[in-house]
Amino acid sequence: MEVKTIMVVGAGFMGAGIAQVGAQAGYKMHLYDISEAAVEKGIAGIKKILSRNVEKGKMSQADMDAAMALIVPSTKLEDAKDCEMAIEAVFENFELKKEIFQKLEAICPAGAVLATNTSSIPITKIAAAVKSPANFIGMHFFSPVPVMRLCEIIRGIKTSDECVATTIEVAEKMGKVTVISKDVPGFIVNRINAAFRNEAYRCMEEGVATIEDIDKAIKFGLNHPMGPFELADFVGLDVGFNVASTLYAGYKDARFAPNATLEKLNISGDLGRKTGKGWYDYSSGEKKPRTDVKF
Ligand SMILES: NC(=O)c1ccc[n+]([C@@H]2O[C@H](COP(=O)([O-])OP(=O)(O)OC[C@H]3O[C@@H](n4cnc5c(N)ncnc54)[C@H](O)[C@@H]3O)[C@@H](O)[C@H]2O)c1
Repeated sequence: MEVKTIMVVGAGFMGAGIAQVGAQAGYKMHLYDISEAAVEKGIAGIKKILSRNVEKGKMSQADMDAAMALIVPSTKLEDAKDCEMAIEAVFENFELKKEIFQKLEAICPAGAVLATNTSSIPITKIAAAVKSPANFIGMHFFSPVPVMRLCEIIRGIKTSDECVATTIEVAEKMGKVTVISKDVPGFIVNRINAAFRNEAYRCMEEGVATIEDIDKAIKFGLNHPMGPFELADFVGLDVGFNVASTLYAGYKDARFAPNATLEKLNISGDLGRKTGKGWYDYSSGEKKPRTDVKF
């Protein structure tokens, strides 16, 4: 089925980003959320990013206007009736996603692709809740969506080849590089990254090097834009702890066991940049080593 019109369910951080790259690729994007305020917030965010691109000369005003004209605000799921594809990016909650896909399947044209941006819920588990699991697929974008090039395509056990091909075509038209992953905890990137991050934590706990030097080593030795500790603070230590816990529950393998110091920081409420302290101290407005805790 040729995709021309897509509904994005959830106009939050990821959903707005998906609507933006879809519209820039020429798809008509219905952007749905539970309230008008939530949809407006998502659209205002897209406008801000595109305006900045126009100011910097990265995009013409005409291209921005064309993309904005393709984004249709929605608070009625019934607007998905002409959508050959729906991409869901609501809160990470199985019951919520299940309910949304059951409704979407009844509204969308027969054969429409139903895609979820979940990071941690098995694709096959959500697919089991719909009548046509062959049309169900994982489409895992990375944040921020307009910047990060990768989109992992995750096959549920019953996802059809046609569904995979259509999804790859859409993601590539959105400017993404695609990879296909089996439906395993963490897919490819989060799985490898979790094991990598745990190794960094172990190096710190064994006294191999300081947090600052481990970050420096990875940045300058592997060309990563951020070291593992800086990145963990940026993403949020609560998010990192949840990812580790999900992977550990899935694999029951010590490689993924949530790190004990990470857990203590979580318990003490130091969640990274957003709380002012995490692996580093940001309370002065600058990133500094922590002097109030002994790692
Ligand atoms: N943030 C990331 O880095 C990231 C990366 C990859 C995947 N994901 C996944 O993407 C999804 C969304 O994450 P996010 O960071 O954009 O969250 P977010 O909190 O920014 O946005 C979620 C949106 O869902 C909306 N929502 C809640 N219930 C709804 C309903 N019943 N109907 C319609 N909309 C509803 C909320 O109003 C909100 O706007 C999650 O499944 C998350 O695991 C997030």
